[in-house]
Amino acid sequence: MSDNKQDSVAVFPGSFDPVTIGHIDLIKRSVAVFNKVIVAVACNQEKTPLFTVSERIAMIEGVFCTTPQVKVETFDGLLIDYMKNNNVHVVIRGLRAVSDFEYEFQMALMNRKLAPGIETFFMTSSALYTYVSSRIVKELASLGGDVSDLVHPLVEARILEKYRIS
Ligand code: PNS
Repeated sequence: MSDNKQDSVAVFPGSFDPVTIGHIDLIKRSVAVFNKVIVAVACNQEKTPLFTVSERIAMIEGVFCTTPQVKVETFDGLLIDYMKNNNVHVVIRGLRAVSDFEYEFQMALMNRKLAPGIETFFMTSSALYTYVSSRIVKELASLGGDVSDLVHPLVEARILEKYRIS
């Protein structure tokens, strides 16, 4: 496996508002396949995000502070433009359930139409995390629910600060 991943780079894009244990699992598993994984935090995806892009980046950097293969960046506009500008050809997306597939398939085909040299690699979520999403984490936390097994402790602390329930 190590020979096959010489100089290989992949982008793992998303909103990450905030990063969940499902994302963390996928990023860790991507690092086992690619030499370098750029976690690309999208700007302007949601009109009212809970966390600013800087906050989201800081949380992901904190979680992966001992994993030098993971680099965290932000991008604005089209993903394929960011990838072209950074000379990256592989995008990784996670699939939790069949319901994710339609949108992901559409996005992968659109990205390929726009930039034929870019390939989308789909990774299945761990069965343990199929129900975990940033949206459900925020909803649960906003209502006072325990999210400690859905996010990294560092992220949980930031969420509790946001909702002022620490
Ligand atoms: O975590 P998400 O919200 O599922 O991530 C979606 C994201 C940010 C990866 C996707 O919406 C995206 O790539 N946005 C940038 C604009 C773009 O290139 N869209 C696809 C072609 S129209």
